[in-house]
Amino acid sequence: MILSSHKDSDSNDILSYIKSVIMYTLFSDAEQNAEYTIEQMDEGFIFIPIYPITYVIDEAFYNKLFTILNLALTPMYTLIRPLTMQVITLDGKEPSRSRGLLIPARKGKPQRLKGTLSELVTQSKEKGDIPIMDIISWNYVRSPHALITGVSGSGKSYALKYIFKVCSNIGETIAIDPKGSDLARLAKQSGTKDIVIPPFVNSGDGQNGIGGKYLQEVVAVLKQVESEMYARQSRLYQATNRVSTDYRELGIKPVFVFIDELAALMTGASKQVKQDFQETLTRLVVLGREAGIYLVLAMQSARAEYLPTIVRDSISLRVQLGRINSENTRFLFPELSEMPMVPIGGKGSGILSIAGDPRYAGIEPVLTPTILD
Ligand SMILES: Nc1ncnc2c1ncn2[C@@H]1O[C@H](COP(=O)(O)OP(=O)(O)O)[C@@H](O)[C@H]1O
Ligand SMILES: [Mg+2]
Repeated sequence: MILSSHKDSDSNDILSYIKSVIMYTLFSDAEQNAEYTIEQMDEGFIFIPIYPITYVIDEAFYNKLFTILNLALTPMYTLIRPLTMQVITLDGKEPSRSRGLLIPARKGKPQRLKGTLSELVTQSKEKGDIPIMDIISWNYVRSPHALITGVSGSGKSYALKYIFKVCSNIGETIAIDPKGSDLARLAKQSGTKDIVIPPFVNSGDGQNGIGGKYLQEVVAVLKQVESEMYARQSRLYQATNRVSTDYRELGIKPVFVFIDELAALMTGASKQVKQDFQETLTRLVVLGREAGIYLVLAMQSARAEYLPTIVRDSISLRVQLGRINSENTRFLFPELSEMPMVPIGGKGSGILSIAGDPRYAGIEPVLTPTILD
């Protein structure tokens, strides 16, 4: 990784502030404070040990440093928790200080987006990718598929509604909503052809609830999408001489498949149908990228019994809303050992990671857009 050095007027102030913050908390021996230096780069802060040192640098040391700075630098900076210790090499320095630990940070606090749906949609058209916060956006081509988890009332359907609206201006959308609520109503309003809701929502017969029959219907829709995926792959193979390409070369639009309350879909279904559902989902998520088939899923918890781990691992944009604790984050962020810091933002707040996009180095706090009427 090549990093550019960062210097501005308050750079020295912040560096001496950091030194004062870690002086008593990071080391057991005060003399160890002479065994490192700190530098600021565009990407964050670099802790540079000056060898020989009398402390051991390991994952635990890095996490401790991160945890101390995380709180101390709020709100001037927002730290981004990497999934592993970030070691970078520093060229042109003497051997004793040629490497450092990167603590990724952004200046300031990312701001929540607020606007009417049409304002937010316009903004996304201008940017090309889907804005999540003022300085965070989702490039679905580079980072395919999305998954939002969180307890009831944390803002999953609300976030889905926003992304759905933006996506329906970009490509085709399919809405699968076992509650027949927000997503289904919005889809109906935007004229989406494919809305899959349980029969009781349509017929007014509230007695039946969702059962195995509904899941079969969902699987049938997903299999149509799967056929479309294979058709696109075959067209792409015939059309191109390039090795690395995708559906955009064919001049066709992406297809976004939205599923709200994914786990609820499976209640009451037989083992075979459940398995068929999970296997179809797996094929779509693993093979969909080049064909421009993207899944946007929401569920309370990404437990493996509901969502096969291969599906979870293939999803680039992961968001967890609501209360964040080690008990519930481990399903969506199994790599995360320490607690990230969460903005105290009420509804629609949580943490996010976007894999496959060099702009995002790890897990960071998120506030989902607020839709004004
Ligand atoms: N980003 C947000 N901005 C403003 N209000 C929000 C936001 N996210 C959620 N809410 C509020 O929280 C309520 C519950 O959210 P909802 O999406 O229905 O939760 P879930 O689907 O997780 O059960 C919404 O009706 C809305 O009033
Ligand atoms: Mg909901």
